[in-house]
Amino acid sequence: MRDILTVVIDSLWYILPSYIANMSPVVFGGGKPLDFNKKFIDGRRVLGDHKTIRGFISGVVCGTIVGVSQGRALQGFLLSLGAMVGDMVGSFIKRRLGIEEGGSVPILDQEGFLVFSILFSYPVENIDIYSIIFLLILTPLLHKGTNIIAYYLKLKEVGH
Ligand code: CTP
Ligand code: MG
Repeated sequence: MRDILTVVIDSLWYILPSYIANMSPVVFGGGKPLDFNKKFIDGRRVLGDHKTIRGFISGVVCGTIVGVSQGRALQGFLLSLGAMVGDMVGSFIKRRLGIEEGGSVPILDQEGFLVFSILFSYPVENIDIYSIIFLLILTPLLHKGTNIIAYYLKLKEVGH
């Protein structure tokens, strides 16, 4: 039981910058899209209107601030950058599948930023397999919860 609690607390401490990075664009995002309105060879947008420069920067900055306050600045930065890159990769894939901005793709939407966060920060701070499994289970649940809250706060157009 004690061990389970340790995994839970360690995992949350580890991933906090990434979660904050992922939530920041909903509050601070908007303005110029990261893909500068460019279309890919398939004629669809590279990333779409929902991935903005301000959103990306706010994610990296807010997540890094959390990392600094935790006394792990570099990990915080890498987790946040990974989260924002993972989020972009997710949108890139969604556009290639012909899914409109804001359309949902279950696993991709929820785990994409997480997987990239872990990949980016792993070289600096490794995380045990139990934490990875716990975070893969927890993140979709939190995602659902925060999306519903964001929808009611009118921060997001879709509550999924
Ligand atoms: N956002 C932003 N810039 C980013 C990432 C997100 O401005 N780099 C903002 C946008 O307002 C976006 C919201 O955060 O609508 C929620 O992000 P997300 O759920 O990742 O985007 P979706 O609306 O689902 O768009 P996509 O289909 O491209 O994933
Ligand atoms: Mg989404």
